[in-house]
Amino acid sequence: MKPIHEGLGISDSDWDVFVTHAIATLDKLGVQGKEREAFPTAAASLKDDIAENV
Ligand code: HEM
Repeated sequence: MKPIHEGLGISDSDWDVFVTHAIATLDKLGVQGKEREAFPTAAASLKDDIAENV
């Protein structure tokens, strides 16, 4: 994840937009149960490799 996203200038704010839209999409599509519950934690575990302070 890190080498792919490094230098792309993905900010904390970009990250928050991504997470908000991703969760809204899961909910709109009716994804429930373990997958839906696990998403915020799974995404958060990748944030440090994707977003950078810009
Ligand atoms: C959980 C979150 C994310 C995951 C798992 C993820 C995963 C990936 C993967 C696997 C690739 C490589 C695709 C390939 O070349 O085959 C990629 C590329 C890319 N991602 Fe993400 N990504 C995530 C979040 C984001 C976010 C939030 C952004 C921007 C707001 C982003 C922007 C990009 C861009 C621009 C590329 C293409 C880079 C290039 O080709 O040089 N990603 N991502």
